[in-house]
Parts: sequence; structure tokens; C-alpha cells
Amino acid sequence: MSWELFVKAVDQHPSPVIHLYFGGEPLCHPRIADFVAYAKKKTATTLYTNGLLLTPILAQQFCEAGLDVLGISLDAVDPLLYREKRVGGCLDVLLANMRMFKEIRGSAKRPILVVDLIRFPDEQDQMNMARTLLKDLADEIHAKAYFHYPLLSAEPNLVQPPCAQPEASLAILWDGRVTVCCLDFGAVGVVGDLNKQSMTEVLSSSARNLIRQACAGGQQGLLAMCRTCRSAEAMNQPYLQ
Ligand SMILES: C[S@@+](CC[C@H](N)C(=O)[O-])C[C@H]1O[C@@H](n2cnc3c(N)ncnc32)[C@H](O)[C@@H]1O
Ligand code: SF4
Repeated sequence: MSWELFVKAVDQHPSPVIHLYFGGEPLCHPRIADFVAYAKKKTATTLYTNGLLLTPILAQQFCEAGLDVLGISLDAVDPLLYREKRVGGCLDVLLANMRMFKEIRGSAKRPILVVDLIRFPDEQDQMNMARTLLKDLADEIHAKAYFHYPLLSAEPNLVQPPCAQPEASLAILWDGRVTVCCLDFGAVGVVGDLNKQSMTEVLSSSARNLIRQACAGGQQGLLAMCRTCRSAEAMNQPYLQ
């Protein structure tokens, strides 16, 4: 995303919190520290990352900017499972980066270091292992239920409970297109483009309203973006800490 587009998005953002990530890896952006600093001047800001590219300079900049949450997607604490799920990743590198971050943060309370694990189907519960391994590293550990992202599953799920995603949030893609759902990595639910429209125009667009109403009424099984979604089942399972 260009700096100009980012500034416009942040300036027109109506929400009390900005999450600086979507389907890609935010630390790959050369200006991610500037993005954090700018967003933080406006509102609460979180960033989720695989953590493998975290450097001392970035850690310092995130701390100085007052980033609220640095989320690490660790997924699995078992080294073999980690390597299988995070292809190309190395658990030892990630743990060393987290240690480095904690040292740089020192006694400051922000950013909170949150580690996300995923409860993979048929895999042993990793929480006990995680509590030991991350005892002095993570401020919070979340164990999320695994789910197939919409569009990655072929199996339709036509009867779903109402979904508040399109009412409560939106996601801005790297090129300025706006989708109504933060799980819409395939950009099927694009309802506007910040290069050509203001945020107000996107929010009041008839395309957004149509999807919003369908989801609020539990009718999203009719929408291409939502018809295979199983996020409601996963979201209903509480985070373990
Ligand atoms: C989509 S990632 C993108 C940001 C960044 N690249 C990262 O790795 O954190 C953000 C979040 O999605 C979660 N996630 C990814 N795949 C998932 C799945 N199949 N089920 C549940 N959560 C998932 C990760 O644990 C992480 O917390
Ligand atoms: S049903 Fe799923 S894909 Fe559709 S808006 Fe809700 S979370 Fe997104």
C-alpha cells in the first residue's frame, strides 16, 4: 500500500481500532514502522505478524510509537508441527525474536505481546506445552479454533447464524479496494475503492448495504463470499489463556 493511500485510509477511518494486517505479512512492508506511528497518532492500533522478520530496530520503533498489541501468529509450539504449518519458518528464530522484543520493551506496558496458537483438528492440545515454553515471553496466549477460510472450503454452509462482520468492520486491501469482511482474502466482497471514493461513500454504498443486510438476517448463504464460511462455529469456541 502506498503512503498516500494509507494516510487517506487512516484519516477517514471511522473505527476506534485499526488492525495493521490482512492476509499478507505486514513486516514485509518497508514503511511498516511509519504506518504504525501514523495510525497510533489517530487511534488504538494492533499488528499481527509471523514475527520472523522482527528486528531490534522495528521492535524499538513499535515501542516508541506506542503500538497497543503486537500479535505473534505462532500457530503451533511443537517444532515439527510449526514447520509443517508455517512453511519456511523456524521456531527457534521466532522465539529469539520474541525474547529480543521483550528485552527492548523492558518494563513498558505496551505493546502487549499476544501469542496466537491454533487448535488444529486431530492434533494434541498444545496449551500445556505453550504455557511452559512461553512462560516468560508472552503476555497473553490465545488458542483459536482452526477453520477453513471462506473460499478455501468447497463445502457449502447455506444455513448460518447472523454475522456482524460487515456491520462491525471492513478491510482495506493493499491497492485501496475495500471489502466488507476481514476473512475475505479472495476479495470477493469488494464494495468500493478508496482511490476513487471517500470512506463515507464506501460505507454508504448500496453494495455494502446489501451484504450487511443479508449477513445481519442470516441470509449470507446466498452470497458467493459467504456460502462456505464456517467462522461462526470457530468464533463460538472461546480462546484459552
Ligand atoms: C491471517 S494472519 C495474517 C497476518 C500475518 N501474516 C500472520 O501470520 O499473523 C492473522 C491471524 O490469522 C490466524 N489464522 C491464520 N489461519 C487460520 C486458520 N486457518 N484458522 C484460524 N486462524 C487462522 C493467525 O493465527 C493470525 O492470528
Ligand atoms: S459469513 Fe463469513 S465470509 Fe461472510 S461476512 Fe461473515 S465472516 Fe465474512
